[in-house]
Amino acid sequence: MKSVEDLGDLSGKRVVIRCDFNVPLDGETITDDGRIKAALPTLKQLHDAGARTTVLAHLGRPKGEVNPKFSLAPVAKRLGELLGVDVKLATDVVGPSAQETSASLGDGDVALVENVRFEKAETSKDDAERAELAAKYAAFGDYFVSNGFGVVHRKQASVYDLAKLLPNAAGSLVAKEVEVLEGLTADPKRPFVVVLGGAKVADKLAVIDNLLKIADTLVIGGGMAFTFIKAQGHEVGTSLVDDDSIEAVKGYLAQAEAAGKKILLPVDVRVSDSVDFGAHTVGQVDVVSADEMPAGKLGADIGPETEKLYAEAIRGAASVFWNGPMGVFEIKGLEEGTRAVAQALTEVKGLSVVGGGDSASAVRSLGFADDQFGHISTGGGASLELMEGKELPGIAVLKENN
Ligand code: 3PG
Repeated sequence: MKSVEDLGDLSGKRVVIRCDFNVPLDGETITDDGRIKAALPTLKQLHDAGARTTVLAHLGRPKGEVNPKFSLAPVAKRLGELLGVDVKLATDVVGPSAQETSASLGDGDVALVENVRFEKAETSKDDAERAELAAKYAAFGDYFVSNGFGVVHRKQASVYDLAKLLPNAAGSLVAKEVEVLEGLTADPKRPFVVVLGGAKVADKLAVIDNLLKIADTLVIGGGMAFTFIKAQGHEVGTSLVDDDSIEAVKGYLAQAEAAGKKILLPVDVRVSDSVDFGAHTVGQVDVVSADEMPAGKLGADIGPETEKLYAEAIRGAASVFWNGPMGVFEIKGLEEGTRAVAQALTEVKGLSVVGGGDSASAVRSLGFADDQFGHISTGGGASLELMEGKELPGIAVLKENN
């Protein structure tokens, strides 16, 4: 992959850059601007070099319809504040407003066009449709810079097809993410501990499959742990269970045992019979042994003994990758497991990596600072797919150029 420096003198040159500004919003308020901050070094580099920069980005999944709910207006405002320059937002994606906004850029200026997913062709499965839209994006630049790591696993017009049409480079965010995450899968410092949480085990089967070959220890928490506990033959009350994944999970447990690898599962669990996911409230919370979960209660966080066990495994690692919360951390009283894991990651002597947009938001919402971790990935799906060992279209297309 080329770097922005490899593109040479960018003064007066038009650059089109893909960023991932898919940030969480509460109305029009951005509740975590980590993805915007992570893109700043490359945007500043382009600004300082005197490039004329048109930014492409998506927000949510508007499915090809123009929908003000998914407008990039709050992003343009925040980006302008963080960059310290006025960032104009075109009112369309490739129409007259975008063309005029891009054409009117002076040296060092930065503008955004509207949410690329307002265009149906952006996410189309039809190669020709995507290529046609990509040609319109290409008209905004002499060069293409890919800096939206969170979206490089998508074969979409502004991520993949556009890179085929212009001389391209990886922005510093994409370059750093690939270096850290590919480094973990290719040659991790050992012991390499992987912590996986989150609700759905089905989403993590491919990554468990690959990481069982690479990691020394897998630590399992969150809703997905209950499928493991059930696979071991225990009752799990009303906890989330994916019955379709039980056989696969049994296979992984046997595989780990045969290979001498550890899969750590909760030894105790915080349970309640009244978790309100909508209102973000919980009634009485009890701690029970993981092999004696009462009927009628839902497991909503790992318990204190499990916190200690997991923290010890994490602190003893030379490299750690963590994706997914240990419990329903958004609800007060059910955030302790996630907090304990985050805290342990900050105490790792080697490399600690927090993978995923949601996991990154979780650690920030619990009051941790980004610089307490070795690396916070901006990609949820993208970082997991890299850990699965998959080739990501948005990265492969950049590598083709070398
Ligand atoms: C993300 O939030 O993980 C990225 O922005 C990709 O979004 P998507 O899953 O809607 O493609």
